[in-house]
Amino acid sequence: MAGRLEQRVVVVTGGASGLGRAIALRFADEGAHVVVGDVRRDPREGGEETLALLGDRGLFLDTDVSRSADVDRLVTTAVARYGRLDVMVCNAGVSGRWSKGLLETTEEDWDAIMAVNLRGVFLCTQRAVAEMVEQEPVDEVRGRVVIISSQHGMIGPPGHVAYAASKGGVVNLVRQVAVDFGPRGVLVNAVAPGKILTGSPEQQDPDTLAYSRARTPFHRLGRPDDVAGAALFLASADAGYVSGVNLLVDGGWMAY
Ligand SMILES: NC(=O)c1ccc[n+]([C@@H]2O[C@H](COP(=O)([O-])OP(=O)(O)OC[C@H]3O[C@@H](n4cnc5c(N)ncnc54)[C@H](O)[C@@H]3O)[C@@H](O)[C@H]2O)c1
Repeated sequence: MAGRLEQRVVVVTGGASGLGRAIALRFADEGAHVVVGDVRRDPREGGEETLALLGDRGLFLDTDVSRSADVDRLVTTAVARYGRLDVMVCNAGVSGRWSKGLLETTEEDWDAIMAVNLRGVFLCTQRAVAEMVEQEPVDEVRGRVVIISSQHGMIGPPGHVAYAASKGGVVNLVRQVAVDFGPRGVLVNAVAPGKILTGSPEQQDPDTLAYSRARTPFHRLGRPDDVAGAALFLASADAGYVSGVNLLVDGGWMAY
């Protein structure tokens, strides 16, 4: 049976680890050619490299999404290799040691998060859309952008000022670009994950886990494949008239 992304050309940023890795592997299973751009090759959670698992459906480029030259090379290489760009998945993001409360956040913390989570998404979306508007439509769509935002872009999560501001920016970037480029056949959407278990168990902060469990109505926290399934929907013909949406994949967190 043909996959839902048969012969589609997809770029996934941050695809070495976590959600990006799950998206890259799921999309390849559905028949896509997947080009991964990341600052590292080995998964943060351990295991085989994404590129090894993608096999001949994949390509990897060392890419820092905060650098426009890297982003340009990523998209240019994907198009040179496979002929077009159907889907850009802007997934690369950071929080960790830079994510603090307002009074503790230094300018360096703020800039480190914004460089990847907001500037990186802007650069990748800009370069992808510039490519998409020049190519012929497939089933009335010239291209799709799927951004991994966060439910933390829609609320004020205690103690994470730069991260929440960056994700809030992304949520509105989705609406803006969907409005500006819908007339030219580009669909732009986001997936907003709740707490999804990524990284290795030792990398989990027990307080964050306890808070997330308390906030999530469904009986388990999320898995990377939960996000990959939603991204697949937005990347596929099933979502041929969906644009400007921030699709929560949060086990009901935001309904709480
Ligand atoms: N895991 C969650 O619970 C959760 C919840 C909401 C939103 N998100 C968002 O989902 C996305 C992925 O999160 P994750 O949990 O898989 O994270 P992760 O840390 O497991 O993986 C992120 C990947 O992005 C890469 N990366 C970091 N900076 C980069 C850069 N400058 N250029 C290119 N690649 C870079 C990392 O090397 C890594 O491979 C992020 O945008 C994150 O904010 C995650």
